[in-house]
Amino acid sequence: MIRPATATDAEAFSRLHSQGFLRGWSVEEITALLAEEGVVAFAHEQDGEVDGFILLRSVFDECEILTIATDETRKRQGIGSALLNHACTALKSCDVTNLFLEVAEDNTPALGLYEKAGFAVSGRRRGYYPRLGRTRADAILMHKTL
Ligand SMILES: CC(C)(COP(=O)(O)OP(=O)(O)OC[C@H]1O[C@@H](n2cnc3c(N)ncnc32)[C@H](O)[C@@H]1OP(=O)(O)O)[C@@H](O)C(=O)NCCC(=O)NCCS
Repeated sequence: MIRPATATDAEAFSRLHSQGFLRGWSVEEITALLAEEGVVAFAHEQDGEVDGFILLRSVFDECEILTIATDETRKRQGIGSALLNHACTALKSCDVTNLFLEVAEDNTPALGLYEKAGFAVSGRRRGYYPRLGRTRADAILMHKTL
């Protein structure tokens, strides 16, 4: 089941986000984001447990995917795609036409997810993401017209 998120989801979102990223977002950070104007989020729930979410920020007809994450024990089960498709349908009905995001060049699962959903590469930011040690990863900019 996919449903609009509420402030009470912040804890689950923070847990899921921390599984996927070097620097996770705290409950407070997620709570603050959820309260921002233009920010929308959807939660994926299975067996009473939130196991995926997507967080987006819209301004007029444009929308940025701030993050998307699924539970590490339920990857590659279609949850990410379901959340992305759900968000696209909801945004389209709100007259959003341009969806964009940044993803690390070494994030193969996310690049695959976005390519499968029809996103195209529109640019690159060199050395945008910190990595352990002295190396950094480029950010790939992607967009999709809804
Ligand atoms: C990226 C992420 C959200 C994908 O979620 P998911 O529920 O596993 O994705 P899905 O099962 O819907 O997979 C959709 C497609 O993505 C691609 N994909 C997903 N995982 C992949 C992997 N490990 N390797 C290669 N491609 C992968 C495939 O094309 C897949 O379609 P297929 O299974 O039919 O081949 C998940 O891996 C995640 O939470 N990662 C950590 C957080 C993150 O990096 N978020 C993105 C920030 S930009």
